[in-house]
Amino acid sequence: MSEEIKKGLLGIVVDETTVSHVVPELSALTYRGYKVQDLCDKCEFEEVAYLVLHGELPSKKQLNKFIREERSNRKLSKTIIKNIQQMPKNAHPMDVVRTCVSLMSLEDKDTKDNSQKSNMQKALRIFAQTPTAVAAYFRTRKGKKIISPSKKLSFSENFFKMMFNKIPDKEIVRAFDISLILYAEHSFNVSTFTARTITSSLSDLHGAITGAIASLKGPLHGGANEAVMHMMKEIGKPEKAKSWIENALAKKKVIMGFGHRVYRTGDSRVPTMKHYMFKVAKLLNKNKYPKIYEILEREMLSKKNIHPNVDFPCGPTYYMMGIDIDFYTPIFVMSRITGWSAHIMEQHASNKLIRPLSKYKGEQVREVMLLNQR
Ligand code: CMC
Repeated sequence: MSEEIKKGLLGIVVDETTVSHVVPELSALTYRGYKVQDLCDKCEFEEVAYLVLHGELPSKKQLNKFIREERSNRKLSKTIIKNIQQMPKNAHPMDVVRTCVSLMSLEDKDTKDNSQKSNMQKALRIFAQTPTAVAAYFRTRKGKKIISPSKKLSFSENFFKMMFNKIPDKEIVRAFDISLILYAEHSFNVSTFTARTITSSLSDLHGAITGAIASLKGPLHGGANEAVMHMMKEIGKPEKAKSWIENALAKKKVIMGFGHRVYRTGDSRVPTMKHYMFKVAKLLNKNKYPKIYEILEREMLSKKNIHPNVDFPCGPTYYMMGIDIDFYTPIFVMSRITGWSAHIMEQHASNKLIRPLSKYKGEQVREVMLLNQR
């Protein structure tokens, strides 16, 4: 058997999927065959969430039912709320969200049931409850009273209401909705592959999503949207951006929010998110970070020919919306639950245990010496 190593599974095709498709040469991403740009132009986030989970865009009737079910499942149990209130105030919100999904598994009557029907219902419950957990920790950490979810508001409006007790301008809500659409799904990325790997042992959906959240947290994956904002804050002002990046590149630093394993000529989600980032900046009259954005983008392209990825515009967009930096990746979770769940169901429908091989380079077989001989 060949022992050629493909570190990071670079270029390896491990399975088939119908959920999404990245066409690197076209810089295109499709969900169930629809270009994400078109979905952003024509759909609300809830429609896209339905599409990712169910495989087709919903009819009006299907959408209404989906929205009704999502809204009626938003509330967290008293136990989970109590747990959130007792969590350390300096915890990373990603760890809080991961723990909350794990706690949800203890309460869900169908945790062990891996049937398609049950998985779809569990996915919906996790999808509906996760924003409530994120917002509950956001407010608890600030010593503020938790705001219960509303059944009258859209997914994004309700999230703003639970976070800030007010809903911003509809253009801001739309920009947030767009970020959720763009974050919903992205083929066999690290967290999705983690979810599929966990599923492949016939483990359950809550466990696979819990593992996926841990995987998304890292700065080479979802954690990049937070790292981007820390970097922009460190740069501080547009006049410093050029020298900052020259210095960073001279030191061979990895610049957060740039590069991608699959896209080589640019992440297809970036132009859409960049457009909305500038829109938010204009509405709120905050131009500093868009200016830094432009300089970093220009310098990275001219010096390294490396394009930004979607986390690059998302970071400053959320910052301008007044969201604490360590909540950006949990927002990514709120949306990606749809993509993970679709992949988990796909894995269950055609499962094969994921179990790669490794090339051994440790000690050869040797004799165990008794303790008094070592
Ligand atoms: N800054 C500086 N150099 C870079 C960067 C970057 N952000 N990305 C890639 N390169 C260089 C890298 O140093 C390497 O150069 P060389 O061939 O001279 O060693 C070359 O480009 C190829 O990069 P790689 O690291 O081998 O590529 P990869 O496919 O293993 O890594 C990546 C992809 C996303 C991990 C990497 O580009 C990176 O670390 N980017 C920064 C973190 C980031 O923004 N992550 C978000 C990813 S996309 C959305 C998401 O998942 O949330």
